[in-house]
Amino acid sequence: RSAATWKPCSRTWPTRGCSTHDRPRAPLALLAELTHRCPLACPYCSNPVEMVRAAGELPTETWKQVMTEAADLGCLQVHFSGGEPTVRKDLEELVAHAAQVGLYSNLITSGVLVDTARLAGLSAAGLDHIQVSFQDTEVASAERIGGLRGAQPRKLAFCRAVREAGLPLTLNAVVHRQNLDRLQEMIDLSLDLGASRLEVAHVQYYGWALKNRAALMPTRQQLEAATAVVDAARVALKGRLVIDYVVPDYYASRPKPCMGGWGRRFITVNPSGKVLPCHAAESIPGLEFQRAGDVPLADIWDWGPAFERFRGTGWMPSLCQTCEHKERDWGGCRCQALALTGDATATDPACAKSPFHRDLVAVAERESAADVGEFVYRRFS
Ligand code: FES
Repeated sequence: RSAATWKPCSRTWPTRGCSTHDRPRAPLALLAELTHRCPLACPYCSNPVEMVRAAGELPTETWKQVMTEAADLGCLQVHFSGGEPTVRKDLEELVAHAAQVGLYSNLITSGVLVDTARLAGLSAAGLDHIQVSFQDTEVASAERIGGLRGAQPRKLAFCRAVREAGLPLTLNAVVHRQNLDRLQEMIDLSLDLGASRLEVAHVQYYGWALKNRAALMPTRQQLEAATAVVDAARVALKGRLVIDYVVPDYYASRPKPCMGGWGRRFITVNPSGKVLPCHAAESIPGLEFQRAGDVPLADIWDWGPAFERFRGTGWMPSLCQTCEHKERDWGGCRCQALALTGDATATDPACAKSPFHRDLVAVAERESAADVGEFVYRRFS
């Protein structure tokens, strides 16, 4: 299938060339959050603070229906995510269904629960790609950050097994003040494990990470050193390792187009079946979410009230409306705007034009200079 194309708004006049209401015909990817269960307890987890328990998770058949509807809608990829998606005993069946309906499948995992027999089963079911998260390269630090003793050797063994099975591998490193100084080691580890891509993801400060901001915020000097490491590695490793890297919001002057823009590239289904424009959207009060299985995914994508709320540019405050970057950053991150200003419609404080931007930088500089506190680990309440 070809990549997502655009269709004009058919509900609101004027219909053509309306940047407010035009929307992609299909999401690029379905983010299937199969579960919030996880053996790790990372203090920056992107899951909501109030998580869905096992009893509230969607059954196998509904997940299959979700994937069928996503493929019919024109979606190209499914990312099996969590929590830890391999806690689901039906994962092989879900992977096989993704292959059957023509979705490219990516498993986002910590790798600590999968032995070689299970990996072989997932590969045989048609899994296309695996992404493994690393907390650090230093074993004691990695296992303290993830809150699971013995995790690191299991991750390393899993990554080697992935490559031996012939599956493509991406490493994901969430970086912060407690591991950023070992970014070069993380790049070396990616090469050693045969990864073709490394995602260097600075912590996003909402939900669990906001609770741990002071323990995670890097200094500006750390950031500059890390950016230089990435710049050099990108040149030296061209053709061997792709490195994705985004500057952390608190030290940025332009906001990132979060999720590639609200309701533009991703459709997320959480473990209980709520369909979300982004994984943290439930933190925004007043949004109305529909459920997979109750309403067709195509209708939710096209007209779901939560997707319409911040799609395009029509919702933007006047400061953003008059900005030449508005159709590049799509207003940045709504969840961050809410978390930092109390108003989800405000200009993202990561933007230098925001009246809150100076405060944001001051918070980063103050907290990164203070002593590192204890983590609040991600746990079911
Ligand atoms: Fe929700 Fe950025 S995380 S819009």
